Order: sequence, then structure tokens, then C-alpha cells
Amino acid sequence: MHIRLLTDRTGAEAVGIDLTKPVSADDKAALNRAFVEHSVLVVRDQRLTPPEVLTAVELFGPIFHQHNTKFALPECPQIHYISNQDTFPDGTRYIPGEGWHTDHSNDTRPPKATVLHAVTLPDVGGDTQFANMASAYTALPGAMQDRIAGLTAIHVYQNSHSTRKLMGLSDSNKERVPNAVLHPIVRTHPETGRKSIYINPIRIEGIVGMDHKEALPLLDDLLAHATRDEFVYRHQWRSGDLTIWDNRCLLHKANGDYDMTQTRYLYRVMLQGDVPR
Ligand code: SIN
Repeated sequence: MHIRLLTDRTGAEAVGIDLTKPVSADDKAALNRAFVEHSVLVVRDQRLTPPEVLTAVELFGPIFHQHNTKFALPECPQIHYISNQDTFPDGTRYIPGEGWHTDHSNDTRPPKATVLHAVTLPDVGGDTQFANMASAYTALPGAMQDRIAGLTAIHVYQNSHSTRKLMGLSDSNKERVPNAVLHPIVRTHPETGRKSIYINPIRIEGIVGMDHKEALPLLDDLLAHATRDEFVYRHQWRSGDLTIWDNRCLLHKANGDYDMTQTRYLYRVMLQGDVPR
């Protein structure tokens, strides 16, 4: 197995490994190191069935149970799918993950990582973008770092001010999902020790002790800063990619910029994380 950098800031690829075969302890350690060091790790050329996806993903940690079970595979419910072929109840097309976000930050222990395995891709487009929130934090002016130090955000399933809408939760899903949780706006990565901006445009309802008139522009400014090109890695999917990314220090977004008569379909799994601090 070889691991190669994709950019000098974010992303690495692993080639020469077949995740349907037993993985040695050395390769498992190298994959986990690459994931933590580069935040996005793309394992190339895999052709995995849903049970094989689970075995592969468990190399990186235990599975996190997703909040909305609507997209679970019936034959393997720990795996969900991402597809451009579903619609909202009003008939409009649903593109999952369109718009910058980090996954399930409305959980007390949000997933440390998300994994997608490409099954069917459009001929062109449908990339996933990743914003490196640790690099973005480091590049903030000192006055802004001081301003956001100690701020706490209120995370909910779907906030009241985002224009992007999520698929609604069923009644039984609602019972499992917390109403609101509090997380710091600056979090420290438990493995690298690096600080990151931890925001989520669709899930943050507000900032504790701050008026919306001040909080929402501040969150917008942080998002505009963090998603500048210099902090973004854009992943162009190849058939067989299994991509794992670190939700503790990245935002990501899907791009619905392709021919919608073509199918984009990927398997999706998340991994358990810890309480952001
Ligand atoms: C997601 O937000 O988990 C999906 C990203 C993608 O489909 O590219």
C-alpha cells in the first residue's frame, strides 16, 4: 500500500490495498494516521458490497447510528445511501449534503468521520468539497480568534434561518434526536491538538448569550472566511473511491452541478465521535 498526498493542506489517497482482504496491523495504523494527518483519505479502486463496506469502515472505529433512518439500506441498515433520485414530499429533487455542513453536529457526540463509497457516478461533476477548518482557524486574525474563544453555539436538527432544507424526521426518529445541544465554536482536535472553527450553517440556531443580529453575521463571516479557495479541497470522485473525512476539523458539501438524468449513488456510513471540547 502507498499513501500519497492530494494537496499540501488536505487530502491523501491510498493505493495498492484491497479492503475485501484482511488488512495488516501496520496498514490499519497507516490508514488511520493518514486519515488524522490529512483529514480526507481516499482509498482508491474498491468494489465493496454493503457488508464489506462495514468491515472496511470499522478499521477506523465503531459505527455511529444516523438520526434519519429514511435512507438506510433495507438489507444492511447501518449503511445509508446518498442518491440524487429522491424527492421532497412536494416533488422537488433532494440533493443530500448540498450546502456547507458538518455531519450531525446536533448530537452530543457528533460523528468523528463520515465515509462514502462511490457506486454510481455522473459522467461529469458531483464533486464533494472540503473546507479545512483548522487551517481556517489558524489564518484568522488574532482579534477574531479572541472574539470567538469561549463562544458556545446551539445546534438543532434543522435551524429556523437556513434556506437549505433537510428531509424531515419520522416520529420515531424524532424521539432519538436531542432537541438542542451546545458545542464550542472553537474545538480542539482530540488527536492532533489543533484548534478548528466548529460551525454548521444548517444546524446552528444561535450563539449562547448573543443576539441573532450579532450572531448570524458573525457565523456568516466565519463561513465566508473558512470556505475561501485556499482552505478547500475539491474531491473529484472516481469509480471505486472509498473516502473517509474528519468531521472534527472539516466542513463539506456536495455539488448538485451535474446532469440529473444521470444517477449519483454512494454508500454512506458515519463513525462514533466524542464530545467537542
Ligand atoms: C454528505 O454530505 O454526507 C454527502 C456528500 C456528497 O454526497 O458528496
